[in-house]
Amino acid sequence: MQKAANAGWLMNIVTVFALRYGTMPRRRKYKTNADRQRAYRKRNRQRAWLKSGSSEWETPQELFTDLDGEFHFTIDVAATPENAKCPRFFTRQEDGLKQIWEGTCFCNPPYGPRVGRWIKKARESARRGATVVCLIPARTDTTWWHDFVIPYSEVRFIRGRLRFGNNGNPAPFPSAVVVFR
Ligand SMILES: C[S@@+](CC[C@H](N)C(=O)[O-])C[C@H]1O[C@@H](n2cnc3c(N)ncnc32)[C@H](O)[C@@H]1O
Repeated sequence: MQKAANAGWLMNIVTVFALRYGTMPRRRKYKTNADRQRAYRKRNRQRAWLKSGSSEWETPQELFTDLDGEFHFTIDVAATPENAKCPRFFTRQEDGLKQIWEGTCFCNPPYGPRVGRWIKKARESARRGATVVCLIPARTDTTWWHDFVIPYSEVRFIRGRLRFGNNGNPAPFPSAVVVFR
């Protein structure tokens, strides 16, 4: 009896709301404000990844020239013929992740949710004797940063934001050069 009365009340409130606002009340999507903020930050990160419309965040030539002067790269492990930074390179078709990385490798991986796989591969290749220098977004809160970057690499945070490729605008994320050797 009491239950039916409560349900009746609830229906009344919903009806009043719908008449007043012309819509039904929305179900709470997040339990807490912290959950809502976390989801908002995640959406923003994904937007930043996608902002370029592709994963072609081409290394600024000046930065590459500096790094090449120090490391003398033998291969670019993620490239197209148009943006490769070394005469030897792996493309999407060959899949750099499936190849053996030897010598001194430059790795500016395709940006997106799979960056962690490239960083793991860099660490594994360094264990087998390669030197791998990665230019990556400084996503210091990610699992891959904590599992591979912090324990096994030398990190050089880049001051300010890089201007990738022909894009005149600064990147929407901070970057770091990470060296596995
Ligand atoms: C961030 S861009 C870097 C390009 C260039 N190496 C540079 O440093 O300017 C990443 C490149 O990796 C290429 N790529 C995507 N998936 C790949 C894969 N599985 N293996 C090798 N290259 C890949 C993309 O086409 C893109 O050109």
